[in-house]
Amino acid sequence: MTASLKYDPSAAWKLLPEGGVARLTPALEAARAEVLADIELFETGGEVPAAKVPLDAGFINLPQQLLDELDSNGDGSQLAQIEATATMLRDEVDRVVSLGIGGSYMGARALFEALCHPWHNELSRDARGGVPRIYFEGNNVDSDVQRALLTMLPSDAAAAKNVTDRWATVVISKSGGTLETAISFRLFRQALENYYGAGSDEVKRYIVPVTGDVGKLRNITSEQGYAASYPIPDGVGGRFSIFTAVGLLPAAILGIDIRELLRGAVDMTECFRSAAAGSNPVLDYTAVCHAFENRGATIRVLSTWGKRLEAAGLWYDQLLSESLGKTSDDGEYKGATPITGVNTRDLHSRGQQHQEGRLDKLITNVIVKSANSEPLAVPHFESDLDDLNRYSNKTVADVLSAAIQGTNQAYADANRPTADLVLPTLNAHTLGQFFQMLMLATVLEGRLIGINPYGQPGVEAYKKNTMALLAK
Ligand code: PA5
Repeated sequence: MTASLKYDPSAAWKLLPEGGVARLTPALEAARAEVLADIELFETGGEVPAAKVPLDAGFINLPQQLLDELDSNGDGSQLAQIEATATMLRDEVDRVVSLGIGGSYMGARALFEALCHPWHNELSRDARGGVPRIYFEGNNVDSDVQRALLTMLPSDAAAAKNVTDRWATVVISKSGGTLETAISFRLFRQALENYYGAGSDEVKRYIVPVTGDVGKLRNITSEQGYAASYPIPDGVGGRFSIFTAVGLLPAAILGIDIRELLRGAVDMTECFRSAAAGSNPVLDYTAVCHAFENRGATIRVLSTWGKRLEAAGLWYDQLLSESLGKTSDDGEYKGATPITGVNTRDLHSRGQQHQEGRLDKLITNVIVKSANSEPLAVPHFESDLDDLNRYSNKTVADVLSAAIQGTNQAYADANRPTADLVLPTLNAHTLGQFFQMLMLATVLEGRLIGINPYGQPGVEAYKKNTMALLAK
């Protein structure tokens, strides 16, 4: 099984001593065997050793399980129901406010930015093909921003009959108790109830919770009798939940082909299981990251060439930080620091440091081979005061390509390690591969360095202090 996404670390390899990466292969293969054994342990419900608690390995086979269930249950399957709710919302409302934070937000935003029209919310309903506008909230504590959104949403109940004036809320929280999301939900629920009438059919249809089997949001869902709600399975951690309803419902509302997304993820899992080092993006990426971290590259720059993958990079920032930024049992601080960059934009801000600053960075370029639309040509002008007519036989894509090559050559000349993650194009299938690859690589690296990649005990301290202060 091969993946159409390619990982090419040849430039980085040149900076390692002969056989540097090959020496890592046995350890990587052992870590892969451990990840695969973890799945087995998780799925058979065996006793999990203390050092592996929590063992949230459920994300790995979930895409296949959802597709299998679609085959066996058809319209009754969770996937078909998600699609049905998405169709209902597309047909009946023009705006969706998606509430959630961290793993309950970043995947959906990444899919939106990568796959929807870059100015989606600006388009007319027709130009959007009936897909609602989307707003991501509940991911911060910012009264001005929330007030601005609440003020912008239609509130005159007389208008609620027109589809262009109707709006809905998808509220996403696995625990159901996260303060930022819970307070936002109160605010937007109140606005919805004022608009459609508390207890109305519209309120029941247009509030769609995605939450765990137990918790405060689950209790509210039962009490209020919301028409549709979706679960987040127990053994899938927040930042690994993009292929649950957390990512799939917003994606389906946005008209993204969620079956293809899952098929992409399945392809990557299969490749991870069976492909040898050298043609296995998960193994190879982990090897290069680990080898360079051992040589002092503790900062990992995901350098996306184009704006549409910035949110995907931020999703990865969370994944890596929360999964591996931990202290080992013997008191060692672990985990590389992720940074997302967007080029060429950031060449004008971070470029100097990446070229000549500390030798503590590994740069992974994320390159999309073919743009989704015809590349713009550089126009020819009679008056050539800006001296650009010499490029008027070039396209913007040619300029990008030259910038990618020129930048990476400059890094290579300065012994700065780079590797390329190449997506043939941006679509649901390639993104399915991309997200699954990075989740698997994070888990694999955790096993390699002896850190449990699941759970995030370190984020409890600030929550406890905040709650205690609020209680005063
Ligand atoms: O990865 C994680 O588990 C976290 O980032 C959570 O996704 C985040 O804290 C939100 O939690 P919840 O979905 O319970 O509101």
